[in-house]
Amino acid sequence: MIDRRSFIRFLGILLGILMTLPARLARAKSLAIPLAKAKKLEKAGGSMVLKVKGQQILFIRETEETIRALDPLCTHKGCALVYNRETKRIDCPCHQSVFNLEGGVVKGPASKHLKAYDAKLDGDRIVLSLG
Ligand code: FES
Repeated sequence: MIDRRSFIRFLGILLGILMTLPARLARAKSLAIPLAKAKKLEKAGGSMVLKVKGQQILFIRETEETIRALDPLCTHKGCALVYNRETKRIDCPCHQSVFNLEGGVVKGPASKHLKAYDAKLDGDRIVLSLG
């Protein structure tokens, strides 16, 4: 038989775990990529595709402080996308679809947006969340 004090303590521990669970799960899916392994991303305007956990991801160093991470394939017919640093858009060389840095379609024929991932810079590394 469990006494009242132990039961209240158990509820407190359980509540604490449940309240921090979303943050714990988010951290579990985050991973760090050293900028030293991604030289093209060391300066604003740079872009490159990296394979992360078996998944190709297009990284775009938007500014000195911000970085974007998106699916690198066009949602129309799957061509490899290219970041255009002049227009700050992502171009598809196959049928000229254009996407913005949030992954939204600016110009078709693509009609579906690109999947965008949470990515941020933290010192000399990229912190990416695949969740
Ligand atoms: Fe990109 Fe057709 S594959 S527009």
